[in-house]
Amino acid sequence: MAPMTAAQFYRRFPILETRRLLLREIVPEDAQAIFEINGDDETARRYYGEEALTSYREAFRLTQSYRQRFIEKRGLFWGICFEEAEEDKLVGFFGLTDVQLPRLAHILCHVAPRYWRRGIYSEATAAVLDFCFVRAEFNRVEGVLLLDNYASQRANRKLGFTSEGVLREYEYWQGDWRDAFMISILRSEYLESVRDRHIRRGLLGPGDPTGA
Ligand SMILES: CC(C)(COP(=O)(O)OP(=O)(O)OC[C@H]1O[C@@H](n2cnc3c(N)ncnc32)[C@H](O)[C@@H]1OP(=O)(O)O)[C@@H](O)C(=O)NCCC(=O)NCCS
Repeated sequence: MAPMTAAQFYRRFPILETRRLLLREIVPEDAQAIFEINGDDETARRYYGEEALTSYREAFRLTQSYRQRFIEKRGLFWGICFEEAEEDKLVGFFGLTDVQLPRLAHILCHVAPRYWRRGIYSEATAAVLDFCFVRAEFNRVEGVLLLDNYASQRANRKLGFTSEGVLREYEYWQGDWRDAFMISILRSEYLESVRDRHIRRGLLGPGDPTGA
């Protein structure tokens, strides 16, 4: 079968469902939740080297830019809903940026600090990888992490990503160039072994592949 074209990829927003999560399109009404996810200075500085959001207005603009990205066929951002949280309120978001079909997609994810270590990232990533490799047939999914983001490094290693090496002084933040590194997973690796591992860990359910 021929790989998906951009027109097919962006035809309608792909909703992903997992055992405990719903990944859906982000709407302007999610601004308060986005503010809570990205509004903590210490988290922003330590983990992703950006300024934290300082106002609801900024968060509102971010929700609009996420929607615009999909409309302009420049990637997509899912909002993550968690069954143990307030109904329909986002506990995190998951982005696919730098989407080049069928070559690669770049991932990034933020979970609200009060929901860390509940397996949300792992379950969301398993669904997104299944969507990327089985539905959309990307050849490679990659991400960039700050070198000292050990939490994310550990999470990604457990999910089957390979570290590819240091990107020297790759990010600039508050007067400092900071090292980062690239992680990736290939479609062949995913289909040969990683997908089975995710099923065994209960990260993927019987109704998969996701994104129908
Ligand atoms: C990285 C991040 C997305 C992980 O989200 P999460 O939902 O807490 O992750 P999970 O619960 O699925 O954790 C999976 C594994 O990662 C590791 N891990 C996660 N957080 C960790 C921490 N603070 N310290 C050490 N290990 C950690 C653990 O091995 C964990 O498995 P375990 O709980 O069974 O031991 C979250 O910490 C976050 O939003 N960080 C800020 C944004 C960021 O750094 N994003 C990544 C770069 S874009």
